[in-house]
Amino acid sequence: MPLEKLKPVFDATLSKFKQTGQLKGKEDVIIHIKPASNKKGPRYILAGDKKEYIRMNSNSYLGLSLNDEVIKASEKAIKNFGAGPGSVRFINGTFATHIQLEKKLSSFHKKQSAILFSSAYSAVCGVISPLISENTAILSDALNHNSIINAIKLSKPKEKLIYPHLDMASLEKNIQGLKGRYRRVLIISDGVFSMRGDYPDLKTMVAIAKNYSPYFEEGVITIIDDSHGVGAYGKTGRGTCEVTGTYNIDIVISTLGKALGVNGGYAVSDKKIIEYLRETSPFYIYSNPIGPGEAGAALKSLEILTSSKGIGLLSYLKDLSNYFRKNLIALGYEIINEIHPIVPLMVRDTAKTVKLVKYLKQKGILVTGLRYPTVPYGDECIRFQVNCSHTKHDIDFVLEALEKYKKGNKGDLIDEK
Ligand SMILES: Cc1ncc(COP(=O)(O)O)c(C=O)c1O
Repeated sequence: MPLEKLKPVFDATLSKFKQTGQLKGKEDVIIHIKPASNKKGPRYILAGDKKEYIRMNSNSYLGLSLNDEVIKASEKAIKNFGAGPGSVRFINGTFATHIQLEKKLSSFHKKQSAILFSSAYSAVCGVISPLISENTAILSDALNHNSIINAIKLSKPKEKLIYPHLDMASLEKNIQGLKGRYRRVLIISDGVFSMRGDYPDLKTMVAIAKNYSPYFEEGVITIIDDSHGVGAYGKTGRGTCEVTGTYNIDIVISTLGKALGVNGGYAVSDKKIIEYLRETSPFYIYSNPIGPGEAGAALKSLEILTSSKGIGLLSYLKDLSNYFRKNLIALGYEIINEIHPIVPLMVRDTAKTVKLVKYLKQKGILVTGLRYPTVPYGDECIRFQVNCSHTKHDIDFVLEALEKYKKGNKGDLIDEK
């Protein structure tokens, strides 16, 4: 029984997580979704619980995961091509919907070419590791997503410099110190930061890359992971590139599993870069793609996003998020006041964050509390995410619960098992 020796070691780690409030614990299981009715958006029913919940922690920003047309497109593609790909892409696992989706994604992002991965996490690892040569240094924002951190660990660049969050002056200073020592430099950042809703000054980032490229034989390459940005903000849903007016980022990575409401990841860039990734990226070569049904569904989501309906959804989402932010501030809550539907309510304490999450759940509201190590100590917060399936009535309901909490009227707050 060799595992017997390991169990106490793992027990110690899990106990420590419990003590420090880091344990994620038992997951809720959604057993039913009640469709929207009257003034109410969809309500979620959890296993072992009769209550119905408003979900304020879904990444399906446009509400497309529940969209009838998207579901039908998924069913149609599954009927045509089967439930799964049956193998990796180069062993006849490439279906018509994969090719159509790659074409549509590259044209949506105004890039030459696109490559699909099974998730954005795989896309980040699958893009970064083949781009790091013996002679590459990497510059990465201090608050970059875990996928970027692990992609860098995996590919072991000779030098990695972490610049303070969004600090373009530090980025430039760091790059100066790399001159003459490397052939290639990669700058990598989240687009919109999923824990904060803020985003980098992409114009300055691209200008720095351009200015310093002549000092490196293979240039300075910019990469962003805009998984929470694409389809969620910008007038036409082109995310942080649109919001900052900067479309000349070299490689844009994103997910199909958030605003587009489906599942999977991708990267868009120049033709040669994508051709190189298809031949060298282990996450592409040795791992199944998304199913043909998921690709069919994502195609429909993109069709909706690029229609007048998509513009309408984005405008509704923007207005509803602004309404929520404005009223949270009026209630006296500290928030990170950005323009994205992610609205972090800053609690700045682990125990208080856990308590507020519990209170909101008792009120029928599902939210996510963020604490260390997901966010730095002191930045503990509740991440609210507004989406298009919410109604104004839903947002008012959440605000009312928060108003009561603020006033100390915690009502029926009871200890959960
Ligand atoms: C910035 C960022 N990148 C990547 C991912 C992973 O996306 P996926 O679920 O498609 O792997 C996330 C998900 O939370 C994210 O926030």
